[in-house]
Amino acid sequence: MVENTRDKIPLLPTVAVGIDVVETARVFKLFEKWGDRFLNRFLTPLEQRQCRARPERMAVLIAAKEATSKALGTGLRGVGWKEMEIVHAASGKPSLKLHGHAAVIAERLGWSSTTVSLSHDAGVSIAVVVALGLSKESA
Ligand SMILES: CC(C)(COP(=O)(O)OP(=O)(O)OC[C@H]1O[C@@H](n2cnc3c(N)ncnc32)[C@H](O)[C@@H]1OP(=O)(O)O)[C@@H](O)C(=O)NCCC(=O)NCCS
Repeated sequence: MVENTRDKIPLLPTVAVGIDVVETARVFKLFEKWGDRFLNRFLTPLEQRQCRARPERMAVLIAAKEATSKALGTGLRGVGWKEMEIVHAASGKPSLKLHGHAAVIAERLGWSSTTVSLSHDAGVSIAVVVALGLSKESA
């Protein structure tokens, strides 16, 4: 246990998890119908660039954002799609960057690190998000 020395409230380790599954073809159909309007609504410019190189990533990025909103405990009513950004390293490993209100909530929850795992096969795209941190309240 780590103590918050200012107000003497003990900080407890916390873990938050979010999971989501999306039908890959459903997202492609939305993209076919709405094109850039769809991309601009759901994906950041960086994510859009990653999808141009790998269009199959589109659905899994949507799943990752939904999984993140669950880990934050808000669902998608509480945070914006583009406040949750998935960035792929050159190795292919994805990571999560939070912006705006989503970052404020994560800070309030005491998140210090997040891990993202993505998979797409057999028509479905799946994402799991795990956040670790220290919080004044137990999970
Ligand atoms: C939470 C949210 C992300 C649910 O996602 P969903 O895809 O509709 O439904 P899922 O089956 O994946 O998840 C539902 C489960 O999430 C969990 N959940 C609901 N609200 C939650 C919250 N605030 N925090 C964490 N988990 C939550 C519940 O366990 C729920 O199961 P239940 O319906 O049996 O109670 C919802 O905020 C939402 O807005 N969904 C709409 C998604 C959308 O518009 N997609 C379009 C993409 S193109």
